[in-house]
Amino acid sequence: MADTSIRILLVCHAPSTNTELLRDAAIRGAEHPMLEAVDARWVPPLQATAEDVLACDAILLGTTENFGYMSGALKDFFDRIYYPCLELTEAKPYSYYVRAGSDGTGTCRAIDAITQGLSWRQVLPPVLCKGDYDPRFAERVEELSATLAAGVETGLY
Ligand SMILES: Cc1cc2nc3c(=O)[nH]c(=O)nc-3n(C[C@H](O)[C@H](O)[C@H](O)COP(=O)(O)O)c2cc1C
Repeated sequence: MADTSIRILLVCHAPSTNTELLRDAAIRGAEHPMLEAVDARWVPPLQATAEDVLACDAILLGTTENFGYMSGALKDFFDRIYYPCLELTEAKPYSYYVRAGSDGTGTCRAIDAITQGLSWRQVLPPVLCKGDYDPRFAERVEELSATLAAGVETGLY
């Protein structure tokens, strides 16, 4: 029988306790019990491959901001998948969240530029978790992930 599941790839960097909470929230959102057809898979950026991207129906990215840019781990992911995915993943639905101590704009700018190069489709505005850690960050990330998965499952995206 053909596999009809909707595959959501979560490429989320989680180097600290708080970012683990955000990563867990992203997984929880995409695994919402209402989303019966969704198969969500978290892969750390350093392990995620072009094959993972080619095989999925949508992507949620998650990163810290470090030195005014996305994490080295997410940058490494883009470095490795960019050319293998170019022209094969056009219009791929995606969104992302950023955990930043105080800023986040450089990270958003960089992710937007690379994903525009790939012609991916940002179907939901990114969530910027900026400043002192707030438990509401995880709620927003969970909602983002669930909304992305629901939108793909229902054919909206
Ligand atoms: C080496 C390093 C560089 C950082 N650079 C930035 C930065 O440029 N902008 C920013 O907003 N936060 C920066 N931060 C803060 C991190 O984004 C933040 O600590 C990380 O997202 C983890 O969140 P947490 O401390 O709540 O676990 C930096 C942190 C480290 C360790």
